[in-house]
Amino acid sequence: MTDVKSKPAPSRRAFLKTATGAATLAATTLHAPYILAQPSKVKVGFLLPYTGTYARLGTAITDAFKLHVSEHGGRLGGREIEFVQVDSEANPAKATDNTNRLVNLEKVDVVVGPVHSGVAVAMVRVTRESGTLTIDPNAGAGVVTGALCAPNVFRTSFTNWQPAFPMGKVLADRGMKRAVTMTWKYAAGQEAIGGFVENFTAHGGSIVKELWVPFPKVEFQSLLTEIASLKPEAVFVFFAGGGAVKFVKDYAAAGLHKSVPLFGSGFLTDGTLKAQGDSAQGIETTLHYGDNLNLPANLDFRAKYHQATGREADVYAVQGYDAAQLLRVGLEAARGDVKAKKTMIEAMESAEIDSPRGSFKLSKAHNPVQDIYLRKVVGMENRVQGVAHKALADPATGCKMA
Ligand code: BEZ
Repeated sequence: MTDVKSKPAPSRRAFLKTATGAATLAATTLHAPYILAQPSKVKVGFLLPYTGTYARLGTAITDAFKLHVSEHGGRLGGREIEFVQVDSEANPAKATDNTNRLVNLEKVDVVVGPVHSGVAVAMVRVTRESGTLTIDPNAGAGVVTGALCAPNVFRTSFTNWQPAFPMGKVLADRGMKRAVTMTWKYAAGQEAIGGFVENFTAHGGSIVKELWVPFPKVEFQSLLTEIASLKPEAVFVFFAGGGAVKFVKDYAAAGLHKSVPLFGSGFLTDGTLKAQGDSAQGIETTLHYGDNLNLPANLDFRAKYHQATGREADVYAVQGYDAAQLLRVGLEAARGDVKAKKTMIEAMESAEIDSPRGSFKLSKAHNPVQDIYLRKVVGMENRVQGVAHKALADPATGCKMA
């Protein structure tokens, strides 16, 4: 793999120029016949949320993906990269049309997205059919690398089950026996809670009650009152983005943080700490990333991302950066020939990604096999306390790779 560590970070100005300047560049080259002989650009279509509760997640993924491309002079495998962005709105009802727009109208070479599990299922049904190379940089729907797995579909993030499963044992090992769960009622929440419950009950815990909220609603008050009256030993939740900010603040405002400790998949406190402020202090979560991981790839990435965007890196940025790394591996193997799918896929399948989260490889189903960390919020950091589960692979139920 190309070593990215030694390369200096692009200045914010240079980064924004690479990230947004593709159209300007194309207009210039039209008048230069000797440049017309060059192969066309590789077109990457982002299907990500830029509005709504997951907007910040989509932006982090986009910026980090573009950062990696910009570190390589705007080229991967020798080919210039251009971007098209479609706002998924984290809306499954619009996902088929939005994916068709990228695949059939924009004729992208690669689809990168989405964030929302429901959008992912609809998106993958389209790209499996068209054979378009697809890299999922967040959405954790198990089926994407389960029953719907396909040679052209890759994921650089997680399955919803993966980060939640280890917390079940962590809490049981602490002697906790009675937990309440709470989440949005859609695949991500259901699968995360499923992972936690599976491991918690296998180690002697029991679930007092499962509480559900429709996505993306944030009216939590009546359920928080119910938690107070149920008096469990622990609460485990899945929330992310804007909803996670509101949930953690409401939990503290209700005074619950003093009587019932709150745990979750790490999305609860990732990319959210500035907005959550004091209300997030001390919350423990499990995730495949931690801010303070003392790895050269992480230190390097965090510095470059901050320099390029003015924001702190989070798990979404890491996954977006790794999506670009994975695409680079494929394009380098195919010497920039994006139509050489077999070569690209074989290279991507055997890639070892030097990720800020720690280096990882993909399972046969194309999902990361990765360490899940136990983290605790200290100040403005999700600080790693230890590894909750080493090299955890999703079971990939139902995956039959063609
Ligand atoms: C999901 O819908 O798969 C998801 C969304 C945000 C964070 C994690 C998972």
